[in-house]
Amino acid sequence: MNITIFGTGYVGLVTGACLADVGHHVLCMDVDQAKIDKLKAGHIPIYEPGLESIVKHTVEAGRLAFTTDTAEAVSHGVLQFIAVGTPPDEDGSADLQYVTAVARTIGQHMDEYKVVVDKSTVPVGTADRVHAALRAELDKRDLELDFDVVSNPEFLKEGAAVNDFMKPDRIVVGTSSDRAVDLLREVYYPFNRSRDRMIFMDVRSAELTKYAANAMLATKISFMNEVANLAERLGADIEAVRQGIGSDPRIGYHFIYPGCGYGGSCFPKDVQALARTAADCDYEARLLNAVESVNRAQKHVLFDKISHYFQGDLNGKVVALWGLAFKPNTDDMREASSRALMEDLWRAGAKVQAYDPEAMRETQRIFGDRDGLTLCGTKEQALKGADVLAICTEWKEFRSPDFDGIVAALREPAVFDGRNLYEPEMLERYGLVYYAIGRGRTQFHGV
Ligand code: UDX
Repeated sequence: MNITIFGTGYVGLVTGACLADVGHHVLCMDVDQAKIDKLKAGHIPIYEPGLESIVKHTVEAGRLAFTTDTAEAVSHGVLQFIAVGTPPDEDGSADLQYVTAVARTIGQHMDEYKVVVDKSTVPVGTADRVHAALRAELDKRDLELDFDVVSNPEFLKEGAAVNDFMKPDRIVVGTSSDRAVDLLREVYYPFNRSRDRMIFMDVRSAELTKYAANAMLATKISFMNEVANLAERLGADIEAVRQGIGSDPRIGYHFIYPGCGYGGSCFPKDVQALARTAADCDYEARLLNAVESVNRAQKHVLFDKISHYFQGDLNGKVVALWGLAFKPNTDDMREASSRALMEDLWRAGAKVQAYDPEAMRETQRIFGDRDGLTLCGTKEQALKGADVLAICTEWKEFRSPDFDGIVAALREPAVFDGRNLYEPEMLERYGLVYYAIGRGRTQFHGV
């Protein structure tokens, strides 16, 4: 089937590449000429495991192409996916200008039936706005053409996006049009063969499903972080509690890992946007607001522990920082906990020697040659001459480091672990003082 994707960001590119991989003919359109030039030359702007090879072979096979030409893009696909950004406005609500701009573009160029598919995470009611924007353009052209607007939210995890697309838990489609249902079924058939993963519903429910899924996951994390903070004060161990509650299948082991806060492009933005939507309908989303406020505070707990360790005087101290990305297997630093920690440390007069397996370039792009930040090529280099070590991302290569080497390199043998990577007794055997999240034996209140 011929498919057009508007937006070659993370969602658009993964969607386009995976649809081309199973045989569809996909044209990806972006207004950013430089980006399209790079894609045409084979450069993938994001780090996503598996994506580069799919893009390469589908381009070579002639099933994936890139363009900045809107007329060509609209005429190509019977399905027109919108996968452009919805950045947060000042007040936390999603900015829909790029989504409605695409709708207008489609309305300006289409000359036969199209299905417009909202892939971007958009507030409930956006499909109606897309419908209205597109219809207004057709009216200007005096055209009576038929079209449908469908909500088909993505549930891709960064770092596992290709796998998530290829083996989805569910494919949510919101529409009341039988014609659109048939086309969407056909597009997704290759991902749906072993069992039916498609869930059809009305368009507003599909839009809300995306926010509800992310808000529920964020709630689990903030809940665990709150219990972890409590565990520290009560002398309990959150890791034991985690296993204790996860064994109940109604709770489950997934997504109950405490840490130094959730980040990324989705959870913070979507929780805030849903709370904002609630406020717009005069409903105070007390739980969502609490989830957000727990998370905001959680991003500062590592700093509080480090500051407490140095009795409030961090001036001139050097902190080795392992992990900058908001989670492993990505170079994405949006809303990353590492950023809050670095800002806190700099404010207190400390210096940071940072290392991340993938996010060094991104760190350089964001912070440049900022005073107080040294970018290191290896995790060992980051330790050299540092006072203590802090960890913000649970990359595999941090799981079994050379603990003797850490003791030898640090001025003070203290590790501040925001992801609970180690067994406290083990680190103590190496002579390291270990501060983790919610682990009673090593909590900072008793220092
Ligand atoms: C998320 C959703 O998982 C995905 O379904 C949706 O489409 C987009 O948003 P992503 O932002 O890529 O995906 O990351 P995810 O793996 O969900 O992690 C988000 C954040 O939560 C990370 O900062 C991670 O460290 C944190 N997290 C996750 C925890 O602190 N504890 C956990 O138990 C799980």
